[in-house]
Amino acid sequence: MTRLVVEEIKDDLLSRGYSRRQMMRVATMFGAASAFSGLNAEMAWAKSENLARSKDAPPLVSIGGNTWATGPMAAGLAAATANFPQCNAYGANNAQANLVRAISQTENVPEDHVSVWPGSTEGLVHAVVAFCSPTKGFVQASPGYDDMKFSVDYMQAPFKTVPLKADYSHNVRAMLAADPNAGVYYICTPNNPTATITPVADIEWLVENKPAGSVVLIDEAYIHSSDNYPNNTCAHLVSQGKDVLVARTFSKIFAMAGARLGFIMARPDLLKKLILYSNGGPDPVVSGPAMACGTASLMAHAEIAKRRKEMVENRAMAIEFLQKRNFKVLPSQANFFYFDWKTKTAKEMQAAFRAQGVSIAGPRWPVWPTYSRVSVGSKQDMEAFFNAFNKIVSA
Ligand SMILES: Cc1ncc(COP(=O)(O)O)c(C=O)c1O
Repeated sequence: MTRLVVEEIKDDLLSRGYSRRQMMRVATMFGAASAFSGLNAEMAWAKSENLARSKDAPPLVSIGGNTWATGPMAAGLAAATANFPQCNAYGANNAQANLVRAISQTENVPEDHVSVWPGSTEGLVHAVVAFCSPTKGFVQASPGYDDMKFSVDYMQAPFKTVPLKADYSHNVRAMLAADPNAGVYYICTPNNPTATITPVADIEWLVENKPAGSVVLIDEAYIHSSDNYPNNTCAHLVSQGKDVLVARTFSKIFAMAGARLGFIMARPDLLKKLILYSNGGPDPVVSGPAMACGTASLMAHAEIAKRRKEMVENRAMAIEFLQKRNFKVLPSQANFFYFDWKTKTAKEMQAAFRAQGVSIAGPRWPVWPTYSRVSVGSKQDMEAFFNAFNKIVSA
């Protein structure tokens, strides 16, 4: 990190109300931001599932981590394979520039409004570091994606949660009222774990009414699985120059969770603040083959449509299965669904399904203790879910 960058960071922290003593603590965050990104809850869960299994145990049917049932797209694999032999060089084949161009074209935002990260968690956590402080809090929905909580606490920033509305969208007016002077208002749409959408008009309202100097961080990790994609993305707010950061990941429909690739779209001045707290270089460092894979996958429009269609069919089959048995399932617009056991807890049902060789999400959301989140897998995965369900529920 150059002296100039360190000075810039100092100025920024002082302007956000950190004392010189607090700055020492925050300084450790420069490295810690990357460590926090390893706290991605889906990733942590997958790791613990793998470690807990004996080597000889049959593989679990994995429908607990919201990842995609198939591998990466064929076009992406071919591009990554072609990039790999050139990995002796740094930045072979302009992989980063090509990816940024592809994102700019598909999302209709200028190239200098795109920043590529090794997974979207990295970008999300850095947004907390860049825009929160002891006087600039973080506001999110409940139940919601809670991965940023740890970094918010570390930054000694106020953390507020606001219940979803009765239609399971974010209550943007209540979010603003909960902290009228926050640094970050976080909207996850479709929301994890409820799989529900927040109307773009509500997000636009928040953007227009939030305090100056704050940002609306819009996490669109599951946007490709929603009904109206691409007409419900907030990418247009980026090109309009608003105070927004839009986060995307390649870990879901592009099936690249293990390759670690994501991006943030925002105005160049906001991206500059974000990147200041990474390695201080012009861009975070990302693997070339992963970027080559991502570029080709973004352009594989027919494959994206095919994956959406298959997932929607499997999701409809699973939701019908539960509704026929009188379970309340929330209206899903993602590759997972959230439903109520009413008389059982998510914790006990997770254990029961695991005993049947099926891994579903556990009790991460204590506000709704009887709801389970199940990811949509292949047809066979969902059939394994039905078989396990029949054994457990009729037992
Ligand atoms: C809402 C949401 N945002 C972000 C992520 C992080 O994705 P990644 O760091 O793999 O890009 C996840 C992971 O499951 C998620 O559910």
